[in-house]
Amino acid sequence: MKKIVIAIDGHSSCGKSTMAKELAKNIGYVYVDTGAMYRAVTLYAMQHGQFPDTGIQEDALRTDIEAGRVKVSFKFNAETGRPDTYLNGVLVENEIRQMEVSNRVSPIAALPFVRTLLTEQQKAMGREKGIVMDGRDIGTAVFPNAELKIFVTATAEVRAQRRYDELLGKAKTKEEADALRFDEILKNVQERDYIDSHRETAPLRQAPDAIVLDNSHMTREEQNAWLLQRYKEATA
Ligand code: DC
Repeated sequence: MKKIVIAIDGHSSCGKSTMAKELAKNIGYVYVDTGAMYRAVTLYAMQHGQFPDTGIQEDALRTDIEAGRVKVSFKFNAETGRPDTYLNGVLVENEIRQMEVSNRVSPIAALPFVRTLLTEQQKAMGREKGIVMDGRDIGTAVFPNAELKIFVTATAEVRAQRRYDELLGKAKTKEEADALRFDEILKNVQERDYIDSHRETAPLRQAPDAIVLDNSHMTREEQNAWLLQRYKEATA
């Protein structure tokens, strides 16, 4: 069967990654989570004091990026069946999912020099096709010629609830669980929507040829079946 590029874009916490990973596993494609790449760069900036409360130290980050000091890569984890994210060779899969990173990632993802670096890497990853990539600008900026483009959305409340449940499931202590606030998570989801869709470079936008999926009222199984069907149609 011919190999294609599958671009999955949409809002934060709408379950894109879960769907995309599941599809890639089922059809034997490589899965790339581009949000993880922006998160890893954000973690780098935080670790190097480039993110004081006064704002991002853009010049310091640009210098490090231009000097090749920020390397993001993925390694397949046979145990989970999914790729793990590495920053300069160090496993950062858990760190990049924390709220401290989620709260800071959008302004980093809006920096044109960060987008240029990551977009180039993403294009290179798709050269051989047989790839499922999820993000915000995959169908518009990274692979405008992707054979299958999906734009996923759900209401902000549904997405905040999903993120709340996910973080609750990951909480290791009662204190961690008690510290979670639905209203804070909802605010974070809404803020990220705003920044992601209003930035100048490659804003979150539905590609004209993307198929829209509003999964507010769908189960995971229904979404997976829906996506597999779109893949079959695109490769028929
Ligand atoms: O999908 P996510 O929540 O892990 O993405 C993290 C952030 O990165 C989010 O604020 C949007 C940004 N992002 C982006 O600008 N472009 C992408 N292709 C992927 C993510």
